[in-house]
Amino acid sequence: MPQLTIALTKGRILKETLPLLSAAGIEPSEDIHTSRKLAFDTNMPNVRLLVLRGSDVPTYVQFGAADMGVSGKDTLMEHGGDGLYSLVDLGIARCKLMTAAIKGTPEKEGRVKVATKFVNIARQFYAEQGRQADIIKLYGAMELAPIMELADEIVDIVDTGNTLRANGLEPRMDIADISSRLIANKASIKMKHSTMQPVIDAIAHAVKALT
Ligand code: PRP
Repeated sequence: MPQLTIALTKGRILKETLPLLSAAGIEPSEDIHTSRKLAFDTNMPNVRLLVLRGSDVPTYVQFGAADMGVSGKDTLMEHGGDGLYSLVDLGIARCKLMTAAIKGTPEKEGRVKVATKFVNIARQFYAEQGRQADIIKLYGAMELAPIMELADEIVDIVDTGNTLRANGLEPRMDIADISSRLIANKASIKMKHSTMQPVIDAIAHAVKALT
């Protein structure tokens, strides 16, 4: 039976992914949360799990270093989706991708400076809005950028809205509803179909049962 490698996104998505995998009959052979290992065997002899930074999951799957993966829709939109299929909406880690700015300030006229880690999404969104945007790439703490006058607006994930509020910002425009997706390498789906399909079906079934 061919080996199946599933790339997981560490952090909040991982916490919500493990119960789904468990309901699908896939149990890591040791505690992923406490171990420093990055690759884990499971109770299924042919299934291995990788624990990766979110933005690396589509890359592993695109190039076939992992056959399948769990990735936020935000990360998939930013990646572009080359070489992979999005198979199942897992319904976990739901949030919104939004623009935000300092509370009460008018919309910036003319060119707007936008700080974000989602540079491709932001470029496309502001172009669709017909707004001229200079996109500034950041790797975290986007909420600080308007306060420090690095940018007029940010594009970021909003869940509870607490981070925006705590930093004097407010949400402005919705860009997309986000949740995590089960993705697969396009070639793996063809080559390993008989091994992968039962796993995909079991995960899809677990999603229906748990959400
Ligand atoms: C995300 C996002 C915001 C925060 C929003 O960061 O970048 O900072 O969550 O959540 P809230 O609306 O509930 O306050 P996360 O903690 O996922 O870390 P990241 O910066 O690594 O994405």
